[in-house]
Amino acid sequence: MEHEHTDAVRAGRRRRILITGAGGQLGRALQDAFSDDDLVALRHEDWDVTRSPSDTVSQGGLDLVLHTAAWTDVDGAEADPQGAAAVNVGGTANVAALAAPLVVFSTDYVFDGRKEAPYVESDGPNPLSAYGRTKLHAEAAAGPDAWIVRTSWLFGATGHNFVRTMLRLGAEREEVSVVDDQRGCPTFVGHLATGVRELVDAGKPRGIWHVAADGDCTWAEFAEAIFAEAALDCRVRRISTGELGRPAPRPAHAILRSERAGAPALPHWRDGLRACLDQLGRR
Ligand SMILES: NC(=O)c1ccc[n+]([C@@H]2O[C@H](COP(=O)([O-])OP(=O)(O)OC[C@H]3O[C@@H](n4cnc5c(N)ncnc54)[C@H](OP(=O)(O)O)[C@@H]3O)[C@@H](O)[C@H]2O)c1
Repeated sequence: MEHEHTDAVRAGRRRRILITGAGGQLGRALQDAFSDDDLVALRHEDWDVTRSPSDTVSQGGLDLVLHTAAWTDVDGAEADPQGAAAVNVGGTANVAALAAPLVVFSTDYVFDGRKEAPYVESDGPNPLSAYGRTKLHAEAAAGPDAWIVRTSWLFGATGHNFVRTMLRLGAEREEVSVVDDQRGCPTFVGHLATGVRELVDAGKPRGIWHVAADGDCTWAEFAEAIFAEAALDCRVRRISTGELGRPAPRPAHAILRSERAGAPALPHWRDGLRACLDQLGRR
């Protein structure tokens, strides 16, 4: 079972791939990246991962599972950590119980952000938030044979994300206040999905992989780039995390880089931004 996906690639047959959270921004991008395969793309309403899978999910065998379903409301997790854990930890355990080759997605929020240099796979996690703790426990629930892809600051042409929010606010307002003391790697879901495909198609070893866009910036710098690329006449007022006053603490400096041989190298975040705006017809 463990090498079925690579066996399928070698045999030249279409793989049967389950995607959880298929309605989310990464789930949609993975459907595009793996469109040559036989996809079982399940949205929240098709399979709530806090429940055991129906027979139709497990019947017929699976060559690969791409598990994107998650509680991604970082501030909401502070108010309801058990609800977040039920989805992120319990859901991942249910997915791992399918016993198929598995990719799970994790986050830079497993780190505390106090390291000045970029975080690599062997760095010790120390999540600051309830969300980060559930994602770290989800990594354990995925089991030792999963690919654990840690990524950061995802955005795409669909769903709730910073780029879409800034495009809306930038059209409505003359100025927006944006945090300038958190630094990370804004990652376009289309680029991440291609990187994931590279990882599994090459049969890379399981375990933790850091896969995020090249380059780094603060949220305020990212907002300025969005307004510049989309030709929106809106100023960015740079504020601190304290001024914004969100419930969940976030890492101040969480740049993900890989120390592993053959790790997928994603394009720069600014190229990701341009690709996203092209998909939205905003450039
Ligand atoms: N977004 C980021 O910045 C970021 C950064 C690093 C890592 N990640 C990780 O990357 C993965 C994909 O994130 P994303 O940005 O694509 O998130 P997303 O757009 O919020 O998509 C997550 C999907 O999971 C679904 N879902 C929520 N609870 C579920 C449940 N109990 N059963 C089944 N589906 C459920 C959601 O459906 P509803 O909308 O109907 O609830 C949504 O379609 C997640 O593991 C996330 O933790 C995200």
